[in-house]
Amino acid sequence: MGRKKYVIVMAAGSGTRMGSELPKQFIELDGKAILQKTIEAFTQACPDVSVVTVLPEAHMAYWRQYCLERNFTCPQVLVKGGITRFHSVRNALERIPEGAVVAVHDGVRPLISQNLIRSIFEKAETVPAVIPVIPCVDTMKVLETCGDELVTVPGASVDRSMLFGAQTPQVFHSEVIKEAYSLAYDTSFTDDASVVDKYGKNLSYVIGERFNIKITTQDDLLLARAILSLSSFS
Ligand code: C5P
Repeated sequence: MGRKKYVIVMAAGSGTRMGSELPKQFIELDGKAILQKTIEAFTQACPDVSVVTVLPEAHMAYWRQYCLERNFTCPQVLVKGGITRFHSVRNALERIPEGAVVAVHDGVRPLISQNLIRSIFEKAETVPAVIPVIPCVDTMKVLETCGDELVTVPGASVDRSMLFGAQTPQVFHSEVIKEAYSLAYDTSFTDDASVVDKYGKNLSYVIGERFNIKITTQDDLLLARAILSLSSFS
């Protein structure tokens, strides 16, 4: 028998970059909270997955009420977020047993396909840590801030063919990610793979999806609505 599947849905951010009172994970897209759409992507792709939802303490009652009113009955373990994403993940990992496989996914990436969810869990049957990445299509510049200006860093350049953007879900055998999160916090830990890498474990990669965007700003919200309206998107 395979490992039991969990998804930790990260939704404890305050969403200041969206510029709205309501944190972005609760804003509606297609008549449903972004967070609900994200959770449903997982439960529809893998009906046997257990959901751990990480929320800001101040919005736990809001979310319970929202789910009640919308008759959104998916079983969820609710966990209080921490000061940074790292601390939020660490809180959630306390609710994950040994011998499981756990996906950590941003609650504000609702456009992930069921295909990617299934294929990344499948890959994690053979490797302990796997993350989706997409090749960088833009030319990247190494710049620094000088007062109000951006200026060139002399001689600094990056080879675009070696650059990839990391997405979520990032999927791990539970013992690997739990051990890695025993490390002390470091500001370079902006995703789970960076923690597992610092801990010295090998990472595997799959190609992610362009539409698996992290809804962060008002522009992202417009983009998400446009993607959802495409007849070819389902
Ligand atoms: O802020 P950032 O873009 O890294 O957030 C990525 C995801 O992590 C978001 O879904 C956000 O709600 C979540 N997060 C969290 N706890 C924090 C900060 C962010 O769960 N303290």
